[in-house]
Amino acid sequence: LAQAWNRWSPEPFRLDASDVRRGVADSPAACLEFRTVVADNRGGVAAWAAFKRSPSGWLYPGGDPSRWHLSIAGGEPAALLPLVEEGISACAAGGAGSVQFGGDPDHFFPGVPERIPALERLAASTGFQVAGEVSDLWRDLAGYRPPSDAASALRHSGTAVERCTAGSVDRLDAFLASEFPGRWRADCRRKAVADGEPGDVFVLRAGDAVCGFAVTQTPRSVRPHAGAVFRRAFGSRWAALGPIGVAKAFRGRGLGDALLASALGALAEGGAQGCVVDWTVLLDFYGRHGFEPIRRYWVAERRLTPD
Ligand SMILES: CC(C)(COP(=O)(O)OP(=O)(O)OC[C@H]1O[C@@H](n2cnc3c(N)ncnc32)[C@H](O)[C@@H]1OP(=O)(O)O)[C@@H](O)C(=O)NCCC(=O)NCCS
Repeated sequence: LAQAWNRWSPEPFRLDASDVRRGVADSPAACLEFRTVVADNRGGVAAWAAFKRSPSGWLYPGGDPSRWHLSIAGGEPAALLPLVEEGISACAAGGAGSVQFGGDPDHFFPGVPERIPALERLAASTGFQVAGEVSDLWRDLAGYRPPSDAASALRHSGTAVERCTAGSVDRLDAFLASEFPGRWRADCRRKAVADGEPGDVFVLRAGDAVCGFAVTQTPRSVRPHAGAVFRRAFGSRWAALGPIGVAKAFRGRGLGDALLASALGALAEGGAQGCVVDWTVLLDFYGRHGFEPIRRYWVAERRLTPD
């Protein structure tokens, strides 16, 4: 499937087989019955698509349990269009009230990628309605040093940014359970515990309590995901940052800035030449740190039931 995808997609969106395994075969939300493949007349793959049920309520709390997802789709239009229509009908029969393009657990895309015209055409011709846009951002990190006001914001508030350790994973999890109990908590727990990479999560600490977090990835990460899915486009010394979040009671005091700057500084010191932040609308927050948009996605949904 990865080989077929790479034949159809532009260079910045190439995938490894491990990415397809992570996002489709191994993803708990992927519905076996809706992973569809059409063979061409030589026995190759003419088109394939993967749909996922809503993660709400069983994978993690929050979200809309009737919103299912078209995770990824590619192929020759004559084979792909009926395949996707068939998948959408199967979602409706399974109880979906709508199908979102991307934005799924273990996603490839947060929406319809502007730079894959074939997917824009597919979304338009299968009834997806655009409701917004989100971006992936990038900045070079060569020589990056956190600005001095990052350190003073931390000093004034009595907080510190440090890497999470195996011993502080429970405190991180308690923070996430109260502030970001949905997908961010689930993904963070998988990284810090199942993948054994607590140190890739930066925590903002006030005394013994965690009051902010930022997840990072590098080429050493065992399970590249989210911003790191299309890492082939970033060269060999890439980094990814996100999600990032600060407890509500601590926002608006420069601590989000300080957390971001500290994590970027550590990534640069560790040898990263550039960093991607994916799936965001906060262009100003990241723009102040030198990030610029590199990819845009249309947030799009196909409604299956009348409003
Ligand atoms: C985004 C977030 C981490 C910022 O943390 P914070 O501690 O409030 O941010 P800071 O106090 O350091 O603010 C830094 C600057 O970014 C701006 N900013 C912060 N949050 C913003 C938001 N949601 N939208 C637009 N601008 C924002 C601030 O206004 C400030 O600019 P200013 O100094 O010109 O006023 C925090 O609001 C948060 O956890 N939000 C919920 C989770 C989230 O959206 N994460 C980002 C996902 S991509």
